[in-house]
Amino acid sequence: MRCVVANWKMNLSFEEARTFCEDFLGHVSLGAGTEAGIAPPYTMLHLVSDLVRPKGLHVFGQNGHAEPKGAFTGEVSMPQLRDAGCSGVLLGHSERRQLFGETDAALIKKVKAAWQWDLLPLLCIGETLEQRDAGQTLDVLGQQLAILGETGPGPLWVAYEPVWAIGTGRRAEAPQVAEAHAFIRATLNRYFAGTEYQVPILYGGSVTPETFTELLGIPEVAGGLVGGASLDPAKFAALVKQAG
Ligand code: 13P
Repeated sequence: MRCVVANWKMNLSFEEARTFCEDFLGHVSLGAGTEAGIAPPYTMLHLVSDLVRPKGLHVFGQNGHAEPKGAFTGEVSMPQLRDAGCSGVLLGHSERRQLFGETDAALIKKVKAAWQWDLLPLLCIGETLEQRDAGQTLDVLGQQLAILGETGPGPLWVAYEPVWAIGTGRRAEAPQVAEAHAFIRATLNRYFAGTEYQVPILYGGSVTPETFTELLGIPEVAGGLVGGASLDPAKFAALVKQAG
């Protein structure tokens, strides 16, 4: 299975989102074995969901709170994401970890809450440049995946997003991607031992249509989580086509 997900982050207006979806759907047809999704800002979830879910695409929240409701000003819960038309939720994006203090302890609760509300968690992991330079990449990935020891196995996608490759135009080199993905697979095999479920491992960080085909040729790369290039409907359609 191949998976391509657009992470729009805090971009686009309501009308731009509508135009994007109409354009994108005009360009794309999903091949068998290809899954695609869009993670828009909360204000556009309903709109995007109404437009793309009938065409078989996923819609992801960019975050979700672990509690189903309550006094958490500014937060959105998993049942509210479902209500808005989501089938999944991004969790642990490096921007959430770095800018908003997301912790692994919170992520354990969020993954469990996503499952409780029948949302597919797309767990993002990745090392900073300092951690890579210090030779800590695999340790960091192992620590970030250790939350699965607490949650147990369940439906999950994982995205390897080296923080230094996000929004920088500096994609990780093929051997770096291959090493990280092989390590993630071996680690997931431990947490999912005894289950049939095969977690797709996506790569994220400066993915473009120019570089995606090479990435897809790397063992254990099941697809991409795409920021900047996913804001252009023709580019995102090209990425989905390359995955198909
Ligand atoms: P860019 O594709 O803009 O580097 O962003 C990657 C990302 O953070 C996707 O979640």
